[in-house]
Amino acid sequence: MSVAKPLPHDAAPLHVTGRARYIDDIPVPPGCLHLAFGLSEIAAGRISEIDLSEVRRAPGVVRVWEAKDLPSDCDCSPSLGDEPMLSGGTVHYVGQPVFLVAATSHLAARKAVRKAVIRYQERDPVFTVDEAMAADARFEEGPRIWEKGDAARAMETAPHVVTGTLEMGGQEHFYLEGQAALVFPQENGDLLVHSSTQHPTEIQHKVAHALHKPMHAVRVETRRMGGGFGGKESQGNALAVACAVAADATGRPAKMRYDRDDDMTITGKRHDFRITYEAGFDETGRLLAVDFVHYTRCGWAQDLSLPVADRAMLHSDNAYDVPSLRVESHRLRTNTQSATAYRGFGGPQGMLGIERVLDHVAHALGRDPLEVRRVNYYADMAGDGPAEGPDGGLSAPRAPAARPPEDISGHWKGAAADEDLTSRGAEDAVVPGDPPVAPAGVQSTHYGQPVEDFILGALTDRLAESCDYAARREAVAAWNAETPLLKRGLALTPVKFGISFTLTHLNQAGALVHVYQDGSVALNHGGTEMGQGLFQKVAQVAAARFGIPLERVRITATDTAKVPNTSATAASSGSDLNGMAVQAACDTLRGRMAEHLAGLYQAKPSEVVFADGAVQVGDERLSFEDAAKLCYEGRVSLSATGFYKTPKVDWDRIRGQGRPFFYFAYGAACTEVVLDTLTGEYRILRTDILHDCGASLNPALDIGQIEGGYVQGAGWLTTEELVWDDKGRLRTHAPSTYKIPACSDRPEVFNVALWDGRNAEETIYRSKAVGEPPFMLGISAFLALSDAVAACGEAYPELDAPATPERLLMAIRKVQDGV
Ligand code: MTE
Ligand code: MOS
Repeated sequence: MSVAKPLPHDAAPLHVTGRARYIDDIPVPPGCLHLAFGLSEIAAGRISEIDLSEVRRAPGVVRVWEAKDLPSDCDCSPSLGDEPMLSGGTVHYVGQPVFLVAATSHLAARKAVRKAVIRYQERDPVFTVDEAMAADARFEEGPRIWEKGDAARAMETAPHVVTGTLEMGGQEHFYLEGQAALVFPQENGDLLVHSSTQHPTEIQHKVAHALHKPMHAVRVETRRMGGGFGGKESQGNALAVACAVAADATGRPAKMRYDRDDDMTITGKRHDFRITYEAGFDETGRLLAVDFVHYTRCGWAQDLSLPVADRAMLHSDNAYDVPSLRVESHRLRTNTQSATAYRGFGGPQGMLGIERVLDHVAHALGRDPLEVRRVNYYADMAGDGPAEGPDGGLSAPRAPAARPPEDISGHWKGAAADEDLTSRGAEDAVVPGDPPVAPAGVQSTHYGQPVEDFILGALTDRLAESCDYAARREAVAAWNAETPLLKRGLALTPVKFGISFTLTHLNQAGALVHVYQDGSVALNHGGTEMGQGLFQKVAQVAAARFGIPLERVRITATDTAKVPNTSATAASSGSDLNGMAVQAACDTLRGRMAEHLAGLYQAKPSEVVFADGAVQVGDERLSFEDAAKLCYEGRVSLSATGFYKTPKVDWDRIRGQGRPFFYFAYGAACTEVVLDTLTGEYRILRTDILHDCGASLNPALDIGQIEGGYVQGAGWLTTEELVWDDKGRLRTHAPSTYKIPACSDRPEVFNVALWDGRNAEETIYRSKAVGEPPFMLGISAFLALSDAVAACGEAYPELDAPATPERLLMAIRKVQDGV
């Protein structure tokens, strides 16, 4: 059985030998055009004069477009329609594309764009949170506010209150492969688009819209990305549309890739946030009320900012049952790159807010932060999965009391999850308009979703034990008492992350599976591969359904002509959605084959078994190859589609009420750091992680996601700093000035283990999504640094993120001065 095995990434040999093909590796014919954008040099204003004559005369230049030369506004926005590909006169940030050049080489195009002479009428730009608030520059009217209980009233009667402000920076995606697209014109005006995108359907849609073509005239193919991390959900649109415009106008292939500097200057990043908080609590550290205000800089266009800001609000509780919780969110319009999706999609920012509160409360009471966290945790639910009712548990009562503990022995170590558990179509389980009602004893989040699958109590205990938390806490204190200049810090923080797209209709997926007459299988689904190992996981599902070795399954590039109307591979839901869709397609084929073979050998279709590379039909044992051949000769259709939509989700984002998430993924991390109080420099000494992937589809890939997620999360909060100057120019636009974690920055001791459990919800083989949740384990690195700063004096450290050596030094000074 191929699921649950720790197999390497399917393309690993290609990655490490340089043979994996990315957009820039696709051979192009000699006539191919190479494109580059000319960019705005100011942050806000109007173009008063534009002289491109030198650009047109530059060597190799074939054609130049301004906005007025385009066939339409060529909108590149994933949401509001507020992103014309080229500025039509008004400019909104330094780096906004103003004109497009097509030349005979990449270098010629890049050299040519520099020759433009553009004059502007500048107006006062809006950069900071304070400027945006003063100008009331925002998306949506006024702030969005969600509230559970009455936070103001509860605050008044709380025995203790702390308040504070936390600034957290954005983050550059720094995918290894930059944004890229390549378009081949086809007959009859059709276009074939290769794009490094997490969202081929969006590329198809935007290209079709720009050129007034129906979507069927545009085919988008994506074999893989060299990383996306959310930065290729919408930010690839402009390149694909530009190539399509050029190819359509000239009949020649057109290719565009951003150099790293351009990529960092043009494209959106993680949203930076300012979060202010007020928290009321009792002597034990039990939270009674928390009031958050989120201020987020969204940049110049709306892009995905509303759902990002929503997700920050949705994660303001993290693992904690806060009786009264109010969150107010300001989505601010600024003259900077349009901030976009980035691993966690706002969740990390919201979660850091509440983790800071817990830390602050513990400091105020002089108690251990882990103890205070534990006091506030939601209650663990008994058992790991729901009782299996006659219909597979779909309508099993939600009350934990009705859920006997389940035998979870031998989950990912080989014994696969129950074959038939997940094969049922889950569509019947959708209960439209059914408001989530927490059964007695089940706690609810501030948005009304019952927390029915909580395991962090037990998981935290297990991690605290395996990482020796209590003893190390004492050792750190003893060490700090004796060591004047170097201080150690320790923090153990949990993650509860909601899985599903909060835009409910996106929670769907399709698949297309062919069985060829030689028994080989070709697999296609709507998900894209960006290094996370989705293709391998889904191939494992297909191999498991047919009972054949993985080598018999060929994973093919994502292609809008094979599976239409797909969602972005995002929200960590790639394997949840596409795994289920592929399973459905395989099971349809299995059913057809079983029916035919049973007829041939006088057996019952229900008794046909696909396992060990063979098909058992009554007393007859056929190889899968022979079975496929017999079915072909019997004129059985050996091609099937599969479809899946996530059950149970139902969400009203305006009211902030409902069930946005199918389930939660959990994890916890403990990080120890050492900090030099003279320089602010630091090292992560040790990290221990226990993370919940349900019944992992592939423990090797999942551990890779956890390690990478943690390091990327820690990078966000420590070394990765974006700096704009007072003209709005991004000064950190290359690896020379922007510091992502290197191999040598990973923890010296790095222990990662998987929680031995199964998803309580009926997901593909009871696995859980893993792409984003581990990112937030990096919060433990930030709070460990804060803990080390706290050892320098009495005051609570006012540490902002990223905790660069400079910021640490400033925080140390403040704590030492007792302010
Ligand atoms: N892992 C790698 N190696 N490269 C990536 O670009 N993107 C992350 C995560 N892990 C990413 C990654 C993000 S932002 C998401 S949403 C998920 O992978 C998407 O893939 P999945 O849904 O298949 O987990
Ligand atoms: Mo991930 S930020 O949902 O692409």
